[in-house]
Amino acid sequence: MVCMKANIQTQSVNAPTELPPAFPSSHRVARRSFLRRLGLGAALLAPGAALFTTAKNSRAADNSNGKKLTKGDADILRFLAAAEIIETDLWQQYTELGGQDAPESSYRGGLEILDEDQPQYISDNTDDEQSHVNFLNAYLHSKGEKGVNLDAFRTLPSSQAAGAQQIGRLTNLTQLTVDTSWWTRYRSTTNPDLGATFPHAVPSLATGLHTAIPRNNNDLGSNDPENPSDHMKAVAFTAGFHFAFIEQGGTSLYAAMAQKASSLEALQVILSIGGSEIMHFQTWQDKAGNATPVSDFDPVNSSTVTFQDLKTGQPETLQANLIMPEPCDFISTSLPACSIIRPTGAAHVSAMGAVNAFTADGLFRGQPQKFLDFLKSLAAAADAAQRGD
Ligand SMILES: [Fe+2]
Ligand SMILES: [Fe+2]
Repeated sequence: MVCMKANIQTQSVNAPTELPPAFPSSHRVARRSFLRRLGLGAALLAPGAALFTTAKNSRAADNSNGKKLTKGDADILRFLAAAEIIETDLWQQYTELGGQDAPESSYRGGLEILDEDQPQYISDNTDDEQSHVNFLNAYLHSKGEKGVNLDAFRTLPSSQAAGAQQIGRLTNLTQLTVDTSWWTRYRSTTNPDLGATFPHAVPSLATGLHTAIPRNNNDLGSNDPENPSDHMKAVAFTAGFHFAFIEQGGTSLYAAMAQKASSLEALQVILSIGGSEIMHFQTWQDKAGNATPVSDFDPVNSSTVTFQDLKTGQPETLQANLIMPEPCDFISTSLPACSIIRPTGAAHVSAMGAVNAFTADGLFRGQPQKFLDFLKSLAAAADAAQRGD
């Protein structure tokens, strides 16, 4: 904890301390609320400004180990910075409505069915993503490289429910189609890298459109935190499975990018942040399994979602308490089964794949094509990186 704080403050030396509009000061005295005071540094440009950032002064261009990054390493880290900005945007929305500082509501009550500490975990996951953005852009600047700024695309509307700031967003959490095959993948002895496919744990989430946040106060119903409506339970449980979907993606993405890094320091950055994504995923997949049986039809999205009890009477591929990665095929089926994160192979994980997964998830509904084009250009550059290039 002390070490982490020291590292982040060192990186912030080169950055202005102005707060970005998306991250107002918090009433919460959190274990890492200091992160919010650090700001985004050179990434804080006016709307419409360039999509890349540069170091503000010569000190920022000092190399931490005297070595410049290879083009491939810079491209990998730039894409990861963009992915972290997107993660931060969606987690910030969850925090405003369901985090530690969010108003008491039936949505928070629904989230707390999954775990009474859920609001704390949501706030802390958000802080973590913000720290990943701050660090990656500052690290790129320290090497004389450009960082990433997506502020020009913060145009999507906010929830109208109590607690949400009325600011532009990068991501849309109200019309999601959530892939829940990660649940059965991590409970299976087979591996997507070797061609295996997996059924969804919540099939109805994987079709249709579903909101993972209350869109307005009407969605909150009677808004009794102790007795959320079936609709708010369904929205909160959708969020619970979405949390894990996002973080399992980061888990695989960082592992795939690590295999393309050239410098040991870039590898250290990728492995160390990637480990944080794994910890997030593990937390969320444990909590999602606490969803209680409920079915809800949402007339706004014309979709029904049904959550079943995953705690009792389920086969092992669905059983809620099997949260450790089941040993599975790895590298070759002739080798012993191994407990691992998966997929991690280039054929099944890529930066472009991450952009496509975010898009299929519905996060970018309402974003212009030029937003996707920019993300894809960053992804293509990262995917082109090769170790030793
Ligand atoms: Fe992250
Ligand atoms: Fe994450």
